[in-house]
Amino acid sequence: MVEDSHSFAARMVKNAIEFGKGLGDEGQVLRRVSRTGTVNRKALITLLKDRCWLEYYEGIFLPAKLIHLVHDSDLHVEIAKQISDEARHYQLYLKRLEELGEGFDVRKHEPPAGWREAFEYLYRSEDPLVIAAGLNVTIEGAIVGRYDPGSYVEPDPGTAKIVEQIRRDEPSHVQIGVKILERYATTERKRRRVESVMERIIGLTSNATRQLRSEMEVSPFK
Ligand SMILES: [Fe+2]
Ligand SMILES: [Fe+2]
Repeated sequence: MVEDSHSFAARMVKNAIEFGKGLGDEGQVLRRVSRTGTVNRKALITLLKDRCWLEYYEGIFLPAKLIHLVHDSDLHVEIAKQISDEARHYQLYLKRLEELGEGFDVRKHEPPAGWREAFEYLYRSEDPLVIAAGLNVTIEGAIVGRYDPGSYVEPDPGTAKIVEQIRRDEPSHVQIGVKILERYATTERKRRRVESVMERIIGLTSNATRQLRSEMEVSPFK
């Protein structure tokens, strides 16, 4: 029996959330350090800068591109809201950096290589299905899984407050992906495309997470 489009989209989201839950989180490294009484400042700053980068480029630029590629007025409204949410997330992380006395120019920041590669791959696409599968379903779904309150603890209280706020916005970003998959992934060929985008983004995100963790492990204690 052919899987209906709603079940297909739901299965893709479930995969992404499971992937996100399984990600070794940067917080573990910080948490280990925080048991000694001090959060590793250098690692925390790196984490905040990387998250700023993610909110700015993947968060703002990708949906800004996606909004050109879909032709449904309800999606225009929802994607515009996503852009506004992500711009606010970027601002929250930026303010935390300021509180910690760190000036920051996101355009000069070098994120983990896998994040940049994922961004460039998706941003180059002219296919709404590719961007929605990569961003809204895979990346946003992984974020929902990663920040699951049952499994994620942020050791820095200032950052924890930010995560608490942004966590509430993410499920609606995933729902945009669900709608686009339901409407656009209408043939077997298109569904295979969605699956291969997901596989690629998961691979790149896994590489980036490994890079992040090893960078934090070698950060000198302060
Ligand atoms: Fe965000
Ligand atoms: Fe988001």
